Amino acid sequence: RVTRHYKFNIKMQNFTRLCQTKSIVTVNGRFPGPRIIAREGDRIVVKVVNHVQYNVTLHWHGIRQLKSAWADGPAYITQCPIQTGQSFVYNFTVIGQRGTLWWHAHISWLRTTLYGPIVILPKRHVPYPFPQPFREVPIILGEWWKADTEAVINQAMQTGLAPNISDVHTINGLPGPVSNCAAKETFQLKVKPGKTYLLRLINAALNDEMFFSIANHTLTMVEADAVYVKPFSTKIVLITPGQTVNVLLKAKSKAPNGTFAISTRPYATGPASFDNTTATGFLEYKKTSHASNKSNTKKLPLLRAVFPKFNDTVFAMNFHNKVRSLANARFPAKVPKTVDRHFFFTVGLGISKCSKNQQCQGPNNTRVAAAVNNVTFVTPNIALLQAHFFNKSKGVYTTDFPSNPPFKFNYTGTPPSNIFVSSGTKTVVLPYNTSVELVLQDTSIIGAESHPLHLHGFNFFIVGQGNGNFDPKKDPIKFNLVDPAERNTAGVPSGGWVAVRFLADNPGVWFMHCHLEVHTSWGLKMAWIVQDGKRRNQKLPPPPSDLPKC
Ligand code: C2O
Ligand code: CU
Repeated sequence: RVTRHYKFNIKMQNFTRLCQTKSIVTVNGRFPGPRIIAREGDRIVVKVVNHVQYNVTLHWHGIRQLKSAWADGPAYITQCPIQTGQSFVYNFTVIGQRGTLWWHAHISWLRTTLYGPIVILPKRHVPYPFPQPFREVPIILGEWWKADTEAVINQAMQTGLAPNISDVHTINGLPGPVSNCAAKETFQLKVKPGKTYLLRLINAALNDEMFFSIANHTLTMVEADAVYVKPFSTKIVLITPGQTVNVLLKAKSKAPNGTFAISTRPYATGPASFDNTTATGFLEYKKTSHASNKSNTKKLPLLRAVFPKFNDTVFAMNFHNKVRSLANARFPAKVPKTVDRHFFFTVGLGISKCSKNQQCQGPNNTRVAAAVNNVTFVTPNIALLQAHFFNKSKGVYTTDFPSNPPFKFNYTGTPPSNIFVSSGTKTVVLPYNTSVELVLQDTSIIGAESHPLHLHGFNFFIVGQGNGNFDPKKDPIKFNLVDPAERNTAGVPSGGWVAVRFLADNPGVWFMHCHLEVHTSWGLKMAWIVQDGKRRNQKLPPPPSDLPKC
């Protein structure tokens, strides 16, 4: 087993996009941030030093953090932020995972520019369960704002209005030919004829689910959220924020004449405005050596990628349905076959009750809110994990979630009567090794919208999904317990539901939230507390000595 050491200096750096220069928060002056590379089983140690005026935390999205909850990173959930001039060492081991994941800031909207890939290779001499690629290329989808996004979200939270949308989408930080600075701001991928490439796709966008496609090429999806899947070929990949997808790109056997667009644009179902720009990169073929000197003289024709409609929910449902675990002898799908606790959570946007003097229950007393079971989560002032570990929950959080009697919900396409949200720092407590089934139902209180729900600390199995109201009598009969996708983020379909199962075998406090950053800001989040088990190796060790204080 190897330990991989990284030093992440959080510092400001100038970057030019859309021909304008702006100072952004970076790791080591890089955007997108540096790549972390490890093998399954390795220990990763990242020393983070904060040189900027903002409080910072980093999260290792999708890393299971088995018995290392202190290193998970969501601000005020597992740790207090790293303040200006301070440092913290994130120390964790990659257990039983290999594939693509990513890291990002987990406080306010700093993840706009603070993100990078995590590449976990299989153990030495262990091959992939698919053809060995000639090269591997991380491709991160993101967004770029001309404005300072901390100001954007702070203002939105104060006014209760929707925040501005980004100016452009990006591929590896680059928007492509949308401005006069196109050449310098376009992602380029050069391939050799006949070779196979592994593209490690990551959706780091703040608020947009993304389609991804390469003109005139078919992709073979082989992995989702660092779990191998049954390979299937597709022209278009759909990735929610938070999700990661590995696809194989087989270059054509003879170099074709042309440049192929590598494009990404949003899938959006909600009523809210969204950034509808398409980010474009170029795929080009390397010429044979004697042809190379004249290759750039003639401009090659650009072939464009073709996308479904922005709100193509049928495509989305079908695509997500195609993602299946390998579920074979080498990679079995460990779906919990029995369930100890059943949960039904609604997720959605809502309106909060306001008193006569306009004090509302939404975040920062605003009227618009997002909620789980109609409860808007209030971020505490000290980290939940510390409060839990040191038995100091009083005044920090309560354990009355979900409410009793349960929140009643009826999705009919028209708003139900119980639209008002309340607020609180409410958690669910689970004994160690509880087997959980969770149904997440989108509400239509302010228009139906998909929500990419992300669970920290676990992968879950997506055993079912559907449109309209979840039917507790009929739907579970059709659950897939054989080869469901195993993921850390699941899109709750617009006006529909998704059912997941997981085994609570990881002691700690685990955040669950919508990965659309604006919905998280509005309160679509909650936390699970998983208690220690009885045995010594089932307990969360004490915090590291440099854990930041609030
Ligand atoms: Cu990718 Cu809670 O985060
Ligand atoms: Cu959402």
